[in-house]
Amino acid sequence: MNKTLARIPFVIVLFSVACGTPAQSPDVVTDVPSTADITTTPTDVPPTPEDAPVAQDTGATPGDVTWWRDIKPLADQMCNNCHQTGGIAPMPLADYATVRPMARLIANQVRNRIMPPWMPRDGCRSLVDVRGLTDAEIAKFVAWEAAGAPEGNMADYRAPAMRPDTTRPLPSTPGDIVVQPAEPYLPNQRLQDDYRCFIVDPRMTETRDVIGVRVVPGNPRIVHHMLLFEVRSGGLAQLQRNDDRDPGPGYTCFGGPDVNANVRAGTSGDLIDLDMQQVAGWAPGGVDGYMPAGTGIRLKPGSRLVMQVHYNLQMSTRNMTDRTRVELFLSPAGTTQQALWLPQSEATFTIPAGVGPTDPRARAVANFRNTQLPVRVFGVFPHMHQLGHSIRVEAITNSGTSNCLVDIPRWDFHWQQNYFFRTPFRPAVGPTGDTLRTTCVWDNRAENQAFVDGMQLPPRDVRWGEGSTDEMCLNYYYISL
Ligand code: HEC
Repeated sequence: MNKTLARIPFVIVLFSVACGTPAQSPDVVTDVPSTADITTTPTDVPPTPEDAPVAQDTGATPGDVTWWRDIKPLADQMCNNCHQTGGIAPMPLADYATVRPMARLIANQVRNRIMPPWMPRDGCRSLVDVRGLTDAEIAKFVAWEAAGAPEGNMADYRAPAMRPDTTRPLPSTPGDIVVQPAEPYLPNQRLQDDYRCFIVDPRMTETRDVIGVRVVPGNPRIVHHMLLFEVRSGGLAQLQRNDDRDPGPGYTCFGGPDVNANVRAGTSGDLIDLDMQQVAGWAPGGVDGYMPAGTGIRLKPGSRLVMQVHYNLQMSTRNMTDRTRVELFLSPAGTTQQALWLPQSEATFTIPAGVGPTDPRARAVANFRNTQLPVRVFGVFPHMHQLGHSIRVEAITNSGTSNCLVDIPRWDFHWQQNYFFRTPFRPAVGPTGDTLRTTCVWDNRAENQAFVDGMQLPPRDVRWGEGSTDEMCLNYYYISL
């Protein structure tokens, strides 16, 4: 089933039902602008004062930059959460003896913005948990290396403070609900892409809100992405039929769990009610953490959780099993505002073989104008596959001014995540309200093709699809009403 076709009505229905109007109201801007529209995208509105970037202390001047005073505090703050023993990155960058011989490599990686991995460019809406370095911080690494990577005095070391945009981390204890298939799963070896939906009963006895998520991919070599859904009582019969039609744990599920969302106006204090919704998502690079303060995804008693895992299989990963785990941190219902992950996508594109990112045929644009419902947008999760070149999410005012939310000029499939804003964005509502827009650009030239089993694929015409060598132009908005 085509994911986009299944989901776009969901968005329309949600926005119209929730405010009590018929589902056919023309809330959605369906016209895709011409290329001329796209290339003349107006310049960004300057950030509002509350959204202004936080000034960084630039510290030392070039020439007196030392390991102890300048570089180690930065490495502790910005590198060593990944670069630690048992972490996702090699070699802890914690002591001078280790780091000194790598000074040139480090300076180069930092200068070229390869490390720390962070895709959004500055100048759009201010984000929390920013992993990128400021220009001044990059200059410190460069000056330090140029000066011969001096050690300096240990007495100059000050443990770094938390950055002001940092949100509190999840506790290291397992979450309140642990979603995990009963046993390791061996993907279907006849497929290159296997999508499996595992059904887990969280045994919930009361309504609770998910306020934090941790995803632990069991076998990162084969797990391409994970999506977690809640299926409520109204969708359980359909879910059971899906499970019955397929032997083994769970069932094959291209696109999604194949259960109708059936969005309705809410009862008993809920703004909306539905039979199926997305709870969490993970793709390579994804980060764990709390949802924006005061918001949560509502789970109902009696629901099942469905974990969809997309396995991408190559010869080198034959016969590997996986047991991916999701931990959910809960809050009592009513203590948070009900929030939703709303997908936006454009699926009618064909990217001709061989075209590069400047070719208008290598672009797709998804537009959505919300005419009626005041929402707050807390963040986004943009998603493309391996031919992705850049992706931009923005709000366009009725007069055509662009308000950039997140702009990723150099897409890297391996570092995807959700981006939450420092302050929520409120799109203008009404017939002349803002249009939320996601613009995807691909690079389908020979040199940018994916490798399968060590061989680079030849370029071909590429369309929307669930395979890892198909493409997607997809973005989720985390919204609350
Ligand atoms: C979000 C996790 C993460 C953070 C934060 C991070 N790194 Fe890395 N780093 C990695 C991973 C993973 C690798 C292994 C190579 C890869 O997969 O890209 C790596 C590799 C490297 C390498 C080796 C590259 C090579 O060619 O061998 C250097 C040097 C490096 N990082 C420097 C830094 C510095 C300096 C910082 C902080 C300013 C930093 N990294 C922050 C994840 C991270």
